[in-house]
Amino acid sequence: MLDLNAVQSGYGETQVLYGLSLTAQAGRVMAILGRNGAGKSTTLKTIMGLLPLRAGQITFDGKPIPTRAFDVAKSGIAYVPETRDIFPSLTVRENLEIAAKRFGGANPDWTMDRVLDLFPRLGERLDNGGTQLSGGEQQMLAIARALLMNPRLLILDEPTEGLAPIIVKLIHDTLQRLKAEGLSMVLVEQNFGFATSLADDVVVVGKGQVVWTGSAADIRADEGAQHTWLGV
Ligand SMILES: Nc1ncnc2c1ncn2[C@@H]1O[C@H](COP(=O)(O)OP(=O)(O)O)[C@@H](O)[C@H]1O
Ligand SMILES: [Mg+2]
Repeated sequence: MLDLNAVQSGYGETQVLYGLSLTAQAGRVMAILGRNGAGKSTTLKTIMGLLPLRAGQITFDGKPIPTRAFDVAKSGIAYVPETRDIFPSLTVRENLEIAAKRFGGANPDWTMDRVLDLFPRLGERLDNGGTQLSGGEQQMLAIARALLMNPRLLILDEPTEGLAPIIVKLIHDTLQRLKAEGLSMVLVEQNFGFATSLADDVVVVGKGQVVWTGSAADIRADEGAQHTWLGV
């Protein structure tokens, strides 16, 4: 579904990705793991057209991925950045309506009712401004907004970062439900247990390249790989 082949990318003079290749398959969840600074977020930003592709190819459903971020989103990839990027001056309802209007189409899979069924908490917060939300509620809003874009692939960057254990569990159960419904996902996550319990496939990034690839069960069983590549 999503293929990265020998991707190079970075920031100005700083090159971060040195020929990174991976394949995320339809109907599956792929976790991208790796130490801090390995290049995981840079990989996602390059996929999303937020950083220019310097060399290599990225294809989505066999076609070269668009170069502009808006077109990548239109092509069916929704991205929940580490920073969540909700609009703080707008209410929860307005944040959701913007996504639904821009990306909903005539007969969308995801509607306001459906995301509020997934996150009832957001229904109680519809008239609250973005700044009045807890970290967990902001993450729920960021995921809900991404779903209203009716993606074929959902990409999440560290969705549990900074959240209390009870909210981490809620996010986990929600993503599990989306997986059971067949939504394809790519997940960057520092929480090893969270990532490997959701994922089918795992790639580990180290210094801008993929250094390990296998199943979630493989890496859970491989303490050597965990120690070498993740410092777990
Ligand atoms: N905006 C930026 N400008 C310059 N360097 C950056 C920027 N963002 C990240 N980097 C550098 O790129 C490298 C990879 O970062 P990143 O992809 O965010 O790592 P990860 O998500 O795996 O923790 C790091 O060395 C980081 O310091
Ligand atoms: Mg990161």
